[in-house]
Amino acid sequence: MAERLALFATTARGTEDLLAEELKELGARRIRQDRGGVRFLASLDEALMVCLWSRIAMRVLYPLGEFEAHGAEGLYEAVASVPWEEHLTPETTFAVEATLKDSEHSHTGFVALKVKDAVVDRMRDKMGARPDVDPRNPDVRVVAHLVRERLSLSLDLCGEPLHRRGYRVRPTPAPLKETLAAALLRAAGYTGEEALVDPMCGSGTILIEGGLIARRRAPGIARDFAVEKWPHLGARARELLEDLRADARRNERKVTVPILGFDKDPEALEAARRNVKAAKLAEEIQLEEGDATKLPPLPASGGLLITNPPYGDRLGSGGQKGMKSFYFKLGDSLRAQAGWRVWVLSGNPAFESAFHSRPRSRRDLWNGPIACTLLGYSPRGGTEKSEAPLGAPEEPLNVAAVRPEDEGEEQR
Ligand SMILES: C[S@@+](CC[C@H](N)C(=O)[O-])C[C@H]1O[C@@H](n2cnc3c(N)ncnc32)[C@H](O)[C@@H]1O
Repeated sequence: MAERLALFATTARGTEDLLAEELKELGARRIRQDRGGVRFLASLDEALMVCLWSRIAMRVLYPLGEFEAHGAEGLYEAVASVPWEEHLTPETTFAVEATLKDSEHSHTGFVALKVKDAVVDRMRDKMGARPDVDPRNPDVRVVAHLVRERLSLSLDLCGEPLHRRGYRVRPTPAPLKETLAAALLRAAGYTGEEALVDPMCGSGTILIEGGLIARRRAPGIARDFAVEKWPHLGARARELLEDLRADARRNERKVTVPILGFDKDPEALEAARRNVKAAKLAEEIQLEEGDATKLPPLPASGGLLITNPPYGDRLGSGGQKGMKSFYFKLGDSLRAQAGWRVWVLSGNPAFESAFHSRPRSRRDLWNGPIACTLLGYSPRGGTEKSEAPLGAPEEPLNVAAVRPEDEGEEQR
């Protein structure tokens, strides 16, 4: 394997620049943003730094090659041309994950099977024995991505995707991915030096990610990575990771800023409590039952108020009026907090006008399949550096279409 690995880290669409920035801080070189990810060069220890420390990347892939693959036979031939004996041994277990886009093949299972057959046959041919498949806990994960007839093959350095930090012990209906929550915090410029509040915290993802930042805790500290089991690199990776983990533990620091979450749903709050405890941040994060439209006054010292309110997608079109009324009240409540920067991730196009304030910055991004907008508002009685300044000066939007008396259904 070359001294510097050419790698590809994946991320939510619309956050590629944030990941590129983070990778630069982690020592990556020749960084190039792509759709849904970032290409970069890294030595093995830099690559392991990325696995351990990236808060935003979802996966770190080691691309093996790109091929034109026509039909089932072409697919098999392309995969069989890869020198798998450089990455596997007959004793190594492996699994194949296939994703398809606009492909002549309609089943990922079929493509994964063809890839598996070609790997096994090549190994048997070159090594006289074949590795076994272990779909649950493989040593090596092969990722096959087929767009039309263009096949990319990679090995996944992480194994379980990086958003699986290990602290989500109690899920709720619409949690943010941990990596996306971290991307929002970076977009909002959160470095752990100021107070943080999520007034609709759900299962607590934004607060926990904020707590990890404030604590300077490596997001991957509680998990291991697939590369540790690779036959040719595993021993070296384990050795390097032992040092990186020890350094990370030594350099954690005390959290000196308040981190506070509210939710009006006791079940969501209970999930948040459990997740916060599993993240070992129970002393750092306070949770209270509360209504975001009637938020109590927060400390005048200010900080970052960041949240993703309900999008209202389960209410149907009849519920849209209620959502607008809710967003209107939310605007009044959040803006009343002097000195607090307000950032909102919204997946409801009606949010921006109903919130009745002009954002200082706007970013389009994807929360899974949902097109969302991240809006940043200056604090009342202050200004802040905008991440993507909008042309017009700050002024209230025309709110004639939205009346607070448009009472609606409860939101969730
Ligand atoms: C989209 S979820 C937030 C998900 C959260 N970011 C997470 O990762 O789990 C929206 C949350 O807003 C809460 N909510 C809705 N209306 C509220 C209100 N008026 N006050 C406080 N919380 C509210 C819901 O209970 C739900 O937990």
